[in-house]
Amino acid sequence: MSPQKVAIVTGANKGLGFAIVKKLCSKYEGLVYLTARNENRGVQAIEELKKSNLHPTFHKLDVSYQRSISDFAEHIRNKQIEILINNAGILFLKDAKEPLCYQAEQTILINFFGLVNFCETVIPYVKNGGKIVNISSSSGHLSRLPSEELRNKFSSEDLTLDELKELMQSYVEAVKRGDDLKDTWGDSSYVVSKVGVNAYTFNLHRRLSPKGITVNCVHPGYVISDMTRGVGNVTPEDAAEVPLKLALQPEGSGLFVWHNGTPVPWDGPDPRGYIDGKS
Ligand SMILES: NC(=O)c1ccc[n+]([C@@H]2O[C@H](COP(=O)([O-])OP(=O)(O)OC[C@H]3O[C@@H](n4cnc5c(N)ncnc54)[C@H](OP(=O)(O)O)[C@@H]3O)[C@@H](O)[C@H]2O)c1
Repeated sequence: MSPQKVAIVTGANKGLGFAIVKKLCSKYEGLVYLTARNENRGVQAIEELKKSNLHPTFHKLDVSYQRSISDFAEHIRNKQIEILINNAGILFLKDAKEPLCYQAEQTILINFFGLVNFCETVIPYVKNGGKIVNISSSSGHLSRLPSEELRNKFSSEDLTLDELKELMQSYVEAVKRGDDLKDTWGDSSYVVSKVGVNAYTFNLHRRLSPKGITVNCVHPGYVISDMTRGVGNVTPEDAAEVPLKLALQPEGSGLFVWHNGTPVPWDGPDPRGYIDGKS
């Protein structure tokens, strides 16, 4: 008997992840995993979907704990991953009271290292021809880093995963030292985390393309969710459409796709200008 085919979404108890699971339940034929770091919130999300006669499977997964990642990997080891959507993420808004070094540590830990560690752990179970979608942001565009030297390092095709991890850790250390980062990394840990996610996406694409596995990252738009305290210009349901397309029928791999479905050059001009009309 061939192994059961599954789709996995991280951070799916609410917001964009929840909306993606909801759509996957009606469009994908295999088993859909709704994962969440908090068991109660995950089970509540499952109950909510039951009301629409949708039945994803719940499993607890906190991407910032290797133990949680390993538990999940053990759970799916006899299954085949056809779709993996790395959605879990956090953002400290500008008025956050937490110290900057804590914000940097947590943001890079969850948004970058969590995504990378989870993905690397489950890659052995991803089916040839599988699809990996990393939920990035407009903040993940390379132009958001002030330093040309850093931009060159991040976008180098020779950058190994170990070097990328070291680069990301060096940012956290720089924040902890209290370095002036205005002309180098800039003032947003979220930007650094998502630039890291994009660099990882392209690294993974290069490594997995021989297996026909597509790896793309997407800016989902300004999504109305708890992350933005309910502000935004697109509902999670509408924002889920482009990530869903990349999970079901991608038109390529190694792409950074904007919320309107257009692949954008990562090292080109900021698409917020020429697509969203922001000056
Ligand atoms: N909203 C936007 O405008 C926007 C724009 C661009 C990109 N994005 C990206 O879209 C993704 C989804 O964001 P959203 O707007 O839907 O935000 P959200 O409503 O705050 O949802 C974030 C999800 O991630 C989960 N999460 C946080 N830390 C986690 C961890 N360590 N392990 C597992 N799950 C964790 C949260 O769980 P809890 O409920 O337990 O906290 C929640 O389920 C994020 O990657 C975000 O960066 C959002």
